[in-house]
Amino acid sequence: MAQQEDVFKKIISHCKEYGFVFPSSEIYDGLGAVYDYGQNGVELKNNIKKYWWDSMTLMNENVVGIDSAVFMHPTIWKASGHVDAFNDPLIDNKDSKKRYRADVLIEEQIAKFEDKINKEIEKAAKRFGDAFDEKQFRETNPRVLENQGKIDELHARFAKALNDNDLVDLRQIILDYEIVCPVSGTRNWTEVRQFNLMFATEMGSTADGAMKVYLRPETAQGIFVNFLNVQKSGRMKIPFGIAQIGKAFRNEIVARQFIFRMREFEQMEMQFFVRPGEELEWFAKWKEIRLKWHKSLGLGDEKYRYHDHEKLAHYANAATDIEFEMPFGFKEVEGIHSRTDFDLSSHEQYSGKKIQYFDPELNQSYVPYVIETSIGVDRMFLSIMAGSYSEETLEGGDSRVVLKLPPALAPVKLAVLPLVKKDGLPEKAREIMDNLKFNFNCRYDEKDTVGKRYRRQDAIGTPYCVTVDYDSLNDHCVTIRYRDTMEQERVPVAGLENIISDKVSMKNLLKQIAKS
Ligand code: GAP
Repeated sequence: MAQQEDVFKKIISHCKEYGFVFPSSEIYDGLGAVYDYGQNGVELKNNIKKYWWDSMTLMNENVVGIDSAVFMHPTIWKASGHVDAFNDPLIDNKDSKKRYRADVLIEEQIAKFEDKINKEIEKAAKRFGDAFDEKQFRETNPRVLENQGKIDELHARFAKALNDNDLVDLRQIILDYEIVCPVSGTRNWTEVRQFNLMFATEMGSTADGAMKVYLRPETAQGIFVNFLNVQKSGRMKIPFGIAQIGKAFRNEIVARQFIFRMREFEQMEMQFFVRPGEELEWFAKWKEIRLKWHKSLGLGDEKYRYHDHEKLAHYANAATDIEFEMPFGFKEVEGIHSRTDFDLSSHEQYSGKKIQYFDPELNQSYVPYVIETSIGVDRMFLSIMAGSYSEETLEGGDSRVVLKLPPALAPVKLAVLPLVKKDGLPEKAREIMDNLKFNFNCRYDEKDTVGKRYRRQDAIGTPYCVTVDYDSLNDHCVTIRYRDTMEQERVPVAGLENIISDKVSMKNLLKQIAKS
């Protein structure tokens, strides 16, 4: 685990050193849980968004996109339930004056019991070697059973307290399990209070009477309130979907883990409107499609898993997360939710406008049901960074850090390197760049040894480098070097576009998802 934390720290500093992610307002000592994307980060982020957008809107004739405003009428957030229920239960330690999410403190306690079980399993696996049967061990080992019993008991009590919104019992759990403040080490806790996560501001001058408005905490509501606009203007027939990419804002209290939990972040959400009664079938379909989308990137199928929700939000009748194995464990990257007709019905009620669909096949009107797929761009970014970051020892004892990014997402696809800065080699390299720059992102680099230049490109995940040497001036060939294998081969300049385009185009990724 410590080793993994170490890897995570290295990824964070790599992101900064190579222009992927910077802390916001750094020269003013930063702003908590807010980050800026640098010159390479923005390219990777744009590519992630394009991969998602194209997979939704190009591959599905019945999914169209919108781009709604961040500011919306404040009643929207009343109707969606965010004003009353988008809360985190907070608790303060009176000695350290640090504030925590009560639910996170309890989840960490559950994780401690899980760690104890895992350690027992690790020890036994070493002792018994190939003969080790983990299932049997879990069912019979007294220490494992004791800890599993503690987990089950705590889990049940915790779920009940959350469901009942019982803040007194949440605090009591923290006391009963002797959970201490990680900073002061004491159990001197305040009461638990609910804290709303929405940022509010004012619209209009105070003289006119300003209106309190919120920065949207999810993009989904912009889709719901435009359901009729899109359905009518696009003559959409159910089932159909509306996709959107945009910023969302949450005043997160426990804002740790780099870009995993931010106060300003970006979401890619798609609401798929279906006939009532058909939603669970569509839920299963979208679950499968979305996992395929992730796996097509080739970071390793074993790095993904579903986490089905046992405890459902009051408006949902099924929900699952797609989790990715981050350096700090399996974590949610995307949520797929069957949201029933909750949102549209609620907007009908609050707006007083009929929000229904006339189904010509059934000859009846109804409020459609909704399947939502919701993924954070920044979490996706982090999962790709974590899945691609690799430290390798090379022959001869040298080492390199390489980002094995999926080529279609890499910020730079091709680096063009003249062997020396003279004798017409830079001009030849520029000529190659000028031809290829319309196809994909190319970078020119003539500084330092070729070896150093390769390392720089490895560090930002450039899948191809070509070196222009003296022979290139006569034979019009270059040496292409492949990032992952470091193999090199001589290829004609005229063939470069084909070799590279095929590997870096998103078309092949999309085709993989389309395969049934
Ligand atoms: N409309 C549904 C919705 O917003 P959510 O589970 O709260 O659901 C969806 O958020 C996704 O947005 C998450 O799976 C995660 O990837 C991303 N996300 C949520 N809060 C985030 C935060 N504070 N920082 C970064 N990403 C976040």
